[in-house]
Amino acid sequence: MESIQTLKGQSALVTGADSGIGKGVAIALANAGASVLINYVHNHDAAQEVVNEIKTTGGTAFASHADVSKEEEVQAMFAEMYKQYGTIDILVNNAGLQKDSRFVDMTLDQWNTVISTNLTGQFLCSREAAKEFIRRGVVEGRSKAAGKIICMSSVHEVIPWAGHVNYAASKGGISMFMKSIAQELAPHKIRVVGIGPGAIKTPINKSAWDTPEELAKLLTLIPYNRIGEPEDIGKLAAWLVSDEADYITGTTIFIDGGMTLYPGFADNG
Ligand code: BGC
Repeated sequence: MESIQTLKGQSALVTGADSGIGKGVAIALANAGASVLINYVHNHDAAQEVVNEIKTTGGTAFASHADVSKEEEVQAMFAEMYKQYGTIDILVNNAGLQKDSRFVDMTLDQWNTVISTNLTGQFLCSREAAKEFIRRGVVEGRSKAAGKIICMSSVHEVIPWAGHVNYAASKGGISMFMKSIAQELAPHKIRVVGIGPGAIKTPINKSAWDTPEELAKLLTLIPYNRIGEPEDIGKLAAWLVSDEADYITGTTIFIDGGMTLYPGFADNG
């Protein structure tokens, strides 16, 4: 466990926390002292492993199933959260997926699946969390804010992505969703912040890093010349939801080794 427990006494819900970035974030929040709900949709065993890993280091966590695109499942998960931890202090909207296709071949199902999980999922979970933050308000001695919401976005919030228009549209949507609720919720002392990861070594983009050739190609897009790790995102998330970041709301922090710096222009243009 880290020595400074900046999130001690707080409870956090992380969607899609059974793998990848969500797992990294859940572990980082637990290390900072938060009790964490590990949400998963398909892989109970993987979620339970994250719970066990957190418990081994003295943290508190439990696994809870919900498809974030389904209203009743989200509401049931929040009910479970309140049963276990009484309330919620931190929501991390992380669950997301890709269904890639050339635009002209993209099916309505591929479009809807990505928008429902990546964007509607953030709406459903944020609405539940915001209701509880407003009902409960600031708790003296726990956090300066009544609640914190992280919206996991992507560099594709700003970088167009051929062959992935459903995904890029969902991330562009998250940007305005995040800013609009940040504006509406700030008077309630609720902070809403986006995180825009670049290429992070996770199952979602395995084909882009699992051979030396693919990795070399990927690195041409990353001026800092390394792929990111889930821990990189975990550390940022733990800081953003702490009182150290109390004046940050309504903005996306890109964490991408310079991917958004238009590296193609380094020796061109
Ligand atoms: C995508 C990854 C991709 C990265 C950089 C992420 O949002 O999920 O597949 O490697 O952006 O392009």
